[in-house]
Amino acid sequence: MKRLISGLMAIAVCMSASADQIDRIIRSMTLEQKAMMLVGVWEADKPSNIISSAGRTHPLESQGIGMTIMNDGATGLRMDTLRKGYPDERYYCTGFPVSIMMASTWNDELVRKVGATLGDEMTAYGVDLILAPSLNLQRNPLCGRNFEYYSEDPYLAGHTAAMMVQGVQSKGTGATIKHFAANNQQTARVNNDAIVSQRALRELYLRNFEIAVKEGQPWAVMNSLNWINGTRASASKALLTDILRNEWGWNGVVMTDWMLPENTAACAHAGNDLFMGGAQSQVEDIIKAVNDGTLSITDVDRNVRNVLSYVMKTHSHAGVEPTFAPDLGADAEVALEAAQEGIVLLKNNAATLPLKEEDTVAVFGVGTYLFYANGLGAADVNKPYTINLIQGMKEARINTHPVVDEFYQKYLEAQDVQLRERNARTWKNWFFGYKVPEEAPLRDFFIQKRAQDCSKAIITIARNCGEALDRNFAKGEYLLTDTEKEMLESVCREFHARGKQVIVVVNTGAAIDVNPWSKLADAVVLAWQPGQEGGRAVADVLSGKVCPSGKLPVTWALDYHDIPSSANFPVDYTFDWEDVKPYGRAGQPRTKNLDYTNYEEGIWIGYRYFSTFSKPVAYPFGYGLSYTTFKWSDAKVEKVSGEMAKVSILVTNTGSVAGKDVVELYSTAPVTEDFETPVRELRAYSKTPLLGPGESVKVSMDVALKDLASFHEDVMSWITAKGTHILSFASSADDVRATVEVTVPKAITRKAPTEVK
Ligand code: BGC
Repeated sequence: MKRLISGLMAIAVCMSASADQIDRIIRSMTLEQKAMMLVGVWEADKPSNIISSAGRTHPLESQGIGMTIMNDGATGLRMDTLRKGYPDERYYCTGFPVSIMMASTWNDELVRKVGATLGDEMTAYGVDLILAPSLNLQRNPLCGRNFEYYSEDPYLAGHTAAMMVQGVQSKGTGATIKHFAANNQQTARVNNDAIVSQRALRELYLRNFEIAVKEGQPWAVMNSLNWINGTRASASKALLTDILRNEWGWNGVVMTDWMLPENTAACAHAGNDLFMGGAQSQVEDIIKAVNDGTLSITDVDRNVRNVLSYVMKTHSHAGVEPTFAPDLGADAEVALEAAQEGIVLLKNNAATLPLKEEDTVAVFGVGTYLFYANGLGAADVNKPYTINLIQGMKEARINTHPVVDEFYQKYLEAQDVQLRERNARTWKNWFFGYKVPEEAPLRDFFIQKRAQDCSKAIITIARNCGEALDRNFAKGEYLLTDTEKEMLESVCREFHARGKQVIVVVNTGAAIDVNPWSKLADAVVLAWQPGQEGGRAVADVLSGKVCPSGKLPVTWALDYHDIPSSANFPVDYTFDWEDVKPYGRAGQPRTKNLDYTNYEEGIWIGYRYFSTFSKPVAYPFGYGLSYTTFKWSDAKVEKVSGEMAKVSILVTNTGSVAGKDVVELYSTAPVTEDFETPVRELRAYSKTPLLGPGESVKVSMDVALKDLASFHEDVMSWITAKGTHILSFASSADDVRATVEVTVPKAITRKAPTEVK
C-alpha cells in the first residue's frame, strides 16, 4: 500500500500544472466558468465520498478538472462518519491533542509527525486541503477558540503552525493557515472591528502569520470574519495582496471564512481568490461586477490562476483514489505520543508524583469521566473513542477506590437520563455544546472515609468551549463552581489532616482561574484537552511511565483582571443571532467589545506584559516541571556570521530518571530612552532528545539578527537596534538560566510600508 501511495504522489507531482498550462486553461474559460471557479460549494457531496466535508471547489469538466475537497481539522480531520452506499459502516478519524497542547510540546519533530499523520488520513479519505492549522494569538484566555490556537507568542504560534503545515504537506495534501488576521474573540465574530496599532499588528497579530507563511509555505490562507481598523479582513488589499503576497512573497490561494456573502467584488479585487462556503449570489456578483466595470477581468484572471494552481496540485486532480482505510491503530500511537509530551506539570510539592505502586487513589470529580478530548465547533473530531482519565488509570493498573468509582458511575448514569432530551443530536447542540452534568456534591463522611482508606486523592476539573462563543468570567467557565470549590477544599482538608497528598488534574482548552485553589493542591497536572488517547497519556504521567516535558505556551494569570486585554474584551455576553449576521446590528449604536474592540494594551499581551512590568503570575509562559533535574552550562555564542548568530548551551540530566528539557531563547534589545521594548521576547527554542540520567546534549540555536527587531510605526519599519542585544537561555519567561551577548554594529532596517487600516 505504501508503495502505491508514493507512486501516486509522484504522479501528483508530475500532474501539478505549469504556468503556461494554467494560462491556456484560463484563456479557454468563459466569464461564468471563471466566476464558478472562484466560488466554492459548502457541502461536498461527491459520490462514494464521506458525506459532509466543509466545502469543495467547482469542477471545470471541459478541461478535465474535477472538484477538490476541503475539511476542517485543527485537532484531527473533521468529517461525518457515514459514507454513501455503506449504511452499516462507520468511518472515523484520529482525535489529536488540541492545538494549545501541541504547542505545549515545544517539539518540532512531533508536531511535523502529527501533521504527516493528518496528511495520511486526508489521503485515505480523499481530502485535498485541510482548513487548519489555526494560529491566532491568545490575547485573552476567554476567547472561545483558544484551544485551536497555539499561543500568546507569535514565534511559538507561527513556528508550530509551520511545522504542522510542513507535516501535512509532506504527504501531497494541502494545509490552510487561518484566520488571517486578528481573530481574537468569538463574540459578534463577523461584525467585530479589531482596532489595533500598526506596531501591535506587525509584532504580534501578523508576525505569527509571517513566520508560518515563510517557514511553512502553506497552500492556502483563510482570512478572518472580523474587521481590522475599519476594513473587513476579506476585503483588505493591504493584508491580502500588499503584505501577504508582495511583502512576504507567498503565492498560494486565499479564501474567505465561511458564511460571508457580501462585498464580493471588493474582496476579489483585494486579493481574495476563493469564496467559501460559497453562494450562487457570489457567482452572480462576480459576473455583474465584471460586466459593469467595477471588477477588472485582470483581477478575476489572477484569482482564477491562484485557484487553479491549488486545484492542480491536489490528489483529486492527480486521480489518487481514497482507500477509506487509514491506519487508525498506528495513528492513535502518534496521538498518544503527542498527548504525553504536551502535558504540563504545574506543581509537584514533596515529590507527590509520580504515584507509587502501592498507592490507592480516590479519584473525585465528574471531569474524570467526561474528560474532554477536544473543544467544540469546526475543530471537533468524530474519533473512534475517547479514553477518559479513569479508563486510562485502570489500564495503567493504578489502584483506584471502587466505592468512589461506583459513586460517579451511578451519578453520571442518573444525570445522563435527565439530560437526554436536552442533548438531542441537533446542530445547535453540536455547535454550542451538549449540556454536561454538574459536579456531584460530596458528603463530608464520604470524603473522610476515603481519606482513611486511600493513600492519595486525585480531583479532575474539566472545561469545554468552542467556536462562535467566548467563555464567560463566571463560575463553571473561567471560575470554579461552588461545588467544585467545596470538593477541593474538603478533599484537601481531610487528606492533609492525615498527611496524605492531593493531585488536581485540569482538563481544559484554555487557562482557568487557579488562584487560590492551586495553593491547596500538592500537585497540579495540566492535561489540556489531550485527544482520544488523553486518559492513557495522563495515566502515564501519573504513574511515572512518562516524565513530563510540556511547557506552557501561554501565561496563567493570578487574577483575570491582571490581564491587560481584560479591560477590552467581552464578558458575560448573551449570544444573539443578529450579532453573527454581517451588518446584523447595522443602524444600532456601536457597542464597545461587540461592534469594535480596542486593543488598548498594544504590544503588552501575555508574558511581554507580565515579565516586563514584574507583575506576579500563577504560572509563567514557558513554564513546566519535570520528574528529573537538568543542569545547563557552557552557554556561548558559537559564531556571528553575516546576519546570523549561532548560540549553544550544554544540557545535562542530573536527576535519576530519563527526561526531556526545553531550552527557550529570548532576546532583550538595547535600552533606548524613546522606544519601549519588552524585557524578553521568544526568538527560538529547542527540545532535547530523551536524556538518561547523567547524559548531556549540546543544544544549538540560530537567530537572524534582522529578527531581533521591533516595529517602528513612525517610519513603518522593522529596526534591529544598534548595540548589544542580550540572548537569554531560559526555562520560562521568568526563569533565565544563562545569558550571552550579540553586538549589532549598525542598525538593521527593513521597510514594511503597508498600513493595515
Ligand atoms: C470557521 C472556520 C471553518 C469553517 C468551515 C467557520 O465557521 O470559522 O474556521 O474552517 O467554518 O467549517
